[in-house]
Amino acid sequence: MTQLNPIQAQQEKRRQDDQKMALAAKILWLPTYLLFVPMFWLIEKAGLMVPLFTKLNILLKEKTQWETSFAGYEPTPHDVIVSAYYKSGTNWTMQMAHLIANRGQAEFEHVHDVIPWPDGMPGYALDIQHDIVWQNTPTGLRIIKSHLPLDLIPFREEARYICVVRDPKEVVVSGYHFSRDTSFGPLTPSLDAFIDVFLSDEFLFGSWARHAATFWAVRHKPNVLFLLYPEMKRLGEAVVPWMAEFMGVALTPEEAALVVEQSSFAHMKTINHKFYPGRLTPWSNPNGQMMRQGKVGNSGELLTAAQQKRIDAHCRAELTKLGSDFPYDTLFASPSGREIATEANMARPRLYHGLRHTAVPTNTSPSSDNSPPMA
Ligand code: A3P
Repeated sequence: MTQLNPIQAQQEKRRQDDQKMALAAKILWLPTYLLFVPMFWLIEKAGLMVPLFTKLNILLKEKTQWETSFAGYEPTPHDVIVSAYYKSGTNWTMQMAHLIANRGQAEFEHVHDVIPWPDGMPGYALDIQHDIVWQNTPTGLRIIKSHLPLDLIPFREEARYICVVRDPKEVVVSGYHFSRDTSFGPLTPSLDAFIDVFLSDEFLFGSWARHAATFWAVRHKPNVLFLLYPEMKRLGEAVVPWMAEFMGVALTPEEAALVVEQSSFAHMKTINHKFYPGRLTPWSNPNGQMMRQGKVGNSGELLTAAQQKRIDAHCRAELTKLGSDFPYDTLFASPSGREIATEANMARPRLYHGLRHTAVPTNTSPSSDNSPPMA
């Protein structure tokens, strides 16, 4: 039998996992509608959905070893760690950074065949210990995904850190649709139950405020690029040269154009399946949307004014508790996004981003593990 390289092994595992879940979905179709749907309806009516959903989040957090998922890892000059809070533009930012690392020429079957995610489910993404990706990129860089706050990610001056922060109300909207698609389907909890768990200490992806506060505190460091989702939207393609400079990669105009084109919402929507997690549970929609709307300021489409206020008040209070001066009200107070969508604020990003970082030496020696990275 031919030996698979780590990327090929990851692809194979994903295909097998998908097949197993497709089978489970078939077997469970009837029990789901005859038994589980009425059962979950009763659970919701009895007010037991929040404790149940909370318990599930606790179990999943233990499974991902959320607190310690980076334990023992020493980031290197090859690493560009993209940490965006859950549903905050992680895939968009990873795609842009991965394309920059590959000078606009990046092929992959699924993004997690080439981008490790230490705080994700074990085995879901390429293991962080494999060097195959950076050894085969023209810049010697590789991207690592995380949703963790910075206090749970090892910080080294030699590595680069790109953080993205999005209005938590938009995060809730995006997350609610996403969890229906990827996990719960007809068993999806009510929006109120989802918000309760999102705002609790047990939420699978941790506290929005802790993520924002820990990165905000280091935003001036030269190896940190602090981005806001609405400013990325506003700046559009201007983010690319800015991110490339931060990564120490001098792109030709042709390469920059390739990065811009392939990281656009329109293009990424056509390759949604390369980012979408597939079937995570028997209730997943295998054709769900990772690139759903990509809009700013539309949380009112799903959330009531009271729900928006509640999220604002919670996140504001959490930031205060953490002693953070993150300008929540300027950026995200209801209605979401409006305050900053002005011409006068176009210059604001310059306040947040880090200084130029020295380039990592271009990889010249092919690795021993030298199969093509984008197999
Ligand atoms: P919506 O659900 O509001 O549409 P993450 O990658 O962290 O899971 O974030 C997902 C959100 O980022 C989704 O938001 C998705 O549409 C948006 N997104 C993905 N690619 C994008 C792009 N190229 N431009 C703008 N937004 C994008």
